[in-house]
Amino acid sequence: AKVAILISGRGSNMVSLLEAAQAPDYPAEIVLVASNRPDAPGLARAAAARLATEAVDHRAHPDRAAFERALDAALRRHGVEFLVLAGFMRVLTPWFVEAWAGRMLNIHPSLLPLFRGTHTHAQALAAGVRVHGCTVHFVVPELDAGPIVAQAAVPVLPEDDEDTLSARVLVQEHRIYPAALALVASGRARLDGGRVVFAEGSG
Ligand code: GRF
Repeated sequence: AKVAILISGRGSNMVSLLEAAQAPDYPAEIVLVASNRPDAPGLARAAAARLATEAVDHRAHPDRAAFERALDAALRRHGVEFLVLAGFMRVLTPWFVEAWAGRMLNIHPSLLPLFRGTHTHAQALAAGVRVHGCTVHFVVPELDAGPIVAQAAVPVLPEDDEDTLSARVLVQEHRIYPAALALVASGRARLDGGRVVFAEGSG
């Protein structure tokens, strides 16, 4: 399956996906890395790895709809079938989300449904939870609310701050995102009636 990765920043999850996709039996091929920020460090890393890249600058479009139409056109030009959001910092409209329904994944740095939105590690520390983690989910119009494909948990340690906790979670992000994409790209996990259906042995 042909996959595009959408980024806005450093792209460490992108790198983990690119590395996984090198394996000959990996069921997805990364055909494009696209960013809404032309200066995203991850875009330069993708270009250096000789991947096709597109910068679709949201500031160069009059509104969200125009930006998303340009992004959608770029994705279709590259024959993209599945979309992976990896630190992509634009909220998508229902039009775009519906156009890619069941074919778009996001990674969120918390154990959803806890701690939606931003600053999830600070939220976790403020709440005093002893377990934290990350979630890969299908994207639905409501932010950070889509059906869950994969999660991983890490302990919260007494001496943790945002930096140490986010680093511990990131290690798990890099592990579960390639695994979740493999499930979805191979059809072993699919969205059906608002729930994720797993093939036997894949749950
Ligand atoms: C990750 O923590 C991801 O969960 C969140 O944004 C961060 C992106 O990091 N949505 P990177 O660009 O993949 O390094």
